[in-house]
Amino acid sequence: MLGIIGGSGLYELYGIASKRSVDEGNAYGQPSSPVVLASVDASAQESLYFIARHGVDHSIPPHKVNYRANIQALYDAGVSRILSVNAVGSCNASYGTGALLMPEQIIDYSYSREHTFFDTLASFANHIDFTLPFDKQWQERIQQAAKAAGQDIPIAGCYACTQGPRFETAAEVQRIMRDGGDIIGMTVMPEAALARERGIAYASLSMVVNMAAGLESDAIDHKDIDGVLSETTRLIDRIIAHL
Ligand code: HPA
Repeated sequence: MLGIIGGSGLYELYGIASKRSVDEGNAYGQPSSPVVLASVDASAQESLYFIARHGVDHSIPPHKVNYRANIQALYDAGVSRILSVNAVGSCNASYGTGALLMPEQIIDYSYSREHTFFDTLASFANHIDFTLPFDKQWQERIQQAAKAAGQDIPIAGCYACTQGPRFETAAEVQRIMRDGGDIIGMTVMPEAALARERGIAYASLSMVVNMAAGLESDAIDHKDIDGVLSETTRLIDRIIAHL
């Protein structure tokens, strides 16, 4: 079963019929939104589950998202693959505003988030392997679906996850570049690690909505970001329909 976690700009799925929604919490609390069971059309066999990471009214900032409740809710629903949609800034000129990519690596700069299901060390297996944080085969399937939707999406780059909710300083962006980061967002962690802890294949479809702080302009303008978000999100709807 496919699970989609929609980020900024993706609060519901257009062109996809929702069948029912589950609004129950789990041992980790309440997910960000009702978990919606949906399919591409009402008669389709293939279904998917959808969660709006920031809530349907975009009221939950990145550091307040209950990542554990979200991943647990998808796990309990039987989800085995997650496509996570993330808005990001770019600090690599190869990925300009409007670009879509699936990063291969993560550097985690976030802090003070509930970041694991393993709060006691039951066995050595609780130290999950996270060498490659994203599932390559799953990324390749998404890449094929995107191609069918007319979009070439590279599997490349390193996602730097910052704490937010503020954007970075210009100096922080320079540091992230020296560290090897290519795109900067606030939400892929701990989500990706929690998915791995639950054995769920996870990929991020990252959409570049701005160039990172200090690279192109003196300040990051929300109006510019909103424009890019609404355009790119419609493209993502088409990719999901193909998937
Ligand atoms: N930095 C961090 N997160 C973001 C950005 C950014 O520039 N743009 C969108 N999400």
